[in-house]
Amino acid sequence: MNAYTSDKQLSRLLYTSALDMEGCSEKQAQAVRKIAESSAEQNRLSQLTGSLLFVKGVFIQILEGPHDEVEKVFDRICCDFRHVDVRLIDLTHVSERLFEDWDMAFLNDDEISSLALRDELQEIQFLVGVNASQATLQMRSLLDNQPAHSKV
Ligand SMILES: Cc1cc2nc3c(=O)[nH]c(=O)nc-3n(C[C@H](O)[C@H](O)[C@H](O)COP(=O)(O)O)c2cc1C
Repeated sequence: MNAYTSDKQLSRLLYTSALDMEGCSEKQAQAVRKIAESSAEQNRLSQLTGSLLFVKGVFIQILEGPHDEVEKVFDRICCDFRHVDVRLIDLTHVSERLFEDWDMAFLNDDEISSLALRDELQEIQFLVGVNASQATLQMRSLLDNQPAHSKV
């Protein structure tokens, strides 16, 4: 049982976008981490959960929670000047959350030394374009195996 078990109409949204920022990878990593941390904080208040991956300059984000809240936050995200080329990949009603343990899990491939994990992130990036459901499930299983990296 958790704080989210009483949700009624749940939705899950998957989108990609590209960071819109010049500068060295360290500066970018800081900016991206800041986005992830403030997102997790805000999501806690809005009963949203999900995952944010940053792979080779591209954001891959899953947001899940009450349908209205998912729509509201995605509207704000679309207007955010820190990224461009926002592409909605999938938006579906779901019966349960997949990311209930994460206000916003976060993985940045630039900050990861494990080659195997970086490969997995790139595989997910590829999958997003061909099979959104599979990409979502793979994201969840990757987080299960990497708890130390994934909590913001
Ligand atoms: C890649 C990316 C992901 C984001 N994810 C979230 C998120 O999960 N939740 C959230 O509240 N804001 C997220 N934001 C921030 C929103 O775009 C927005 O700045 C924030 O919700 C505050 O909006 P407001 O200033 O209109 O209140 C994200 C921004 C970016 C660039």
